[in-house]
Amino acid sequence: MAIETELTKKLGISAPVLLAPMGMVSGGRLAAAVTSAGGLGMIGGGYCDSDWVRKEIKEAGNIQVGVGFITWALERNPGLLDIVIAQRPKAIFLSFGQLGRFVAPVKQADLPLIAQIQSVEQARIAVEEGADIIVAQGTEAGGHGSARSTLPLVPAVVDAVGNVPVVAAGGIADGRGLAAALMLGASGVLCGTAFLAADEALAHPNVKGAVVSASGDRTSRGKVFDTIRGYDWPSPWNIRTLVNDFSRRWESDSEGLQRDLEQQKANYAAARDAGDVSVTAVIAGEAVDLIHAQQPAADILNAMVAQAEDLLLRGPAFLTSGR
Ligand SMILES: Cc1cc2nc3c(=O)[nH]c(=O)nc-3n(C[C@H](O)[C@H](O)[C@H](O)COP(=O)(O)O)c2cc1C
Repeated sequence: MAIETELTKKLGISAPVLLAPMGMVSGGRLAAAVTSAGGLGMIGGGYCDSDWVRKEIKEAGNIQVGVGFITWALERNPGLLDIVIAQRPKAIFLSFGQLGRFVAPVKQADLPLIAQIQSVEQARIAVEEGADIIVAQGTEAGGHGSARSTLPLVPAVVDAVGNVPVVAAGGIADGRGLAAALMLGASGVLCGTAFLAADEALAHPNVKGAVVSASGDRTSRGKVFDTIRGYDWPSPWNIRTLVNDFSRRWESDSEGLQRDLEQQKANYAAARDAGDVSVTAVIAGEAVDLIHAQQPAADILNAMVAQAEDLLLRGPAFLTSGR
């Protein structure tokens, strides 16, 4: 049995699961592992360092993977898109900003353009601009995002974009989430947090450990980790992380942080290198409750798909027939 959707047909994959292009976490090895297991892995171009992206594409070897960019950051280094397109990735993924001038080169290269959006309005605009696949990202997601929740956002986007396949993202980390997303009208899911503690992920071992033991009760959206990392994120986006000593200390005192910024930046850099998760950002979503172990990416994907197939085939236990 297999789950065949508009997404799997469009991308020529066998499982309706995309790996989120998590900046500096979704490298070539993780992306290749997800593609090899039947989904589509995507390398996280993040803040656009060309050497890093080149190295990670090489790492994926002859396994086809996509590459994702933060759109507003790509605006500052637009040449990177051409460098990546020349490597013939399987798809280009753009999130956080209007597609604008990046549509033409992707179309000319005949690559699928995947756009991640956070509102119905953004979905409509992305489709008008030429997106081939829309990822509707709810606020439950790890990393940057906005205010709307996955459950109502996904069907509203499905209704708004006609025949364009919609992928659900934000809070989905097992087969229950995948089955639910398909029921909402999505053609698949995009998962970041689910793969954060995968063997192949580039996250620090302490970050993986924190993800395995964390509760979704202890994540929040905020700005403080962007301030300390020197990323000038435009509104309306902010970042979901685990709450830790650093965020507790500074999230409500941005003026205090500004006054002590240089010293705090130095402390933060040292903590990040040491993997001190009481200080460094553990970028993760509400679905951390569902991550119980570090394991190979293929096992994560296979378990998710098998559970969804089982649920979809059996139907909910409370449905009775023959009334
Ligand atoms: C560690 C981490 C890093 C992320 N980095 C990026 C990124 O660089 N670019 C991007 O478009 N999305 C990024 N995201 C968000 C994902 O694209 C995706 O929307 C999110 O992971 C989906 O929700 P989930 O974490 O609940 O699966 C990141 C997410 C995580 C957890």
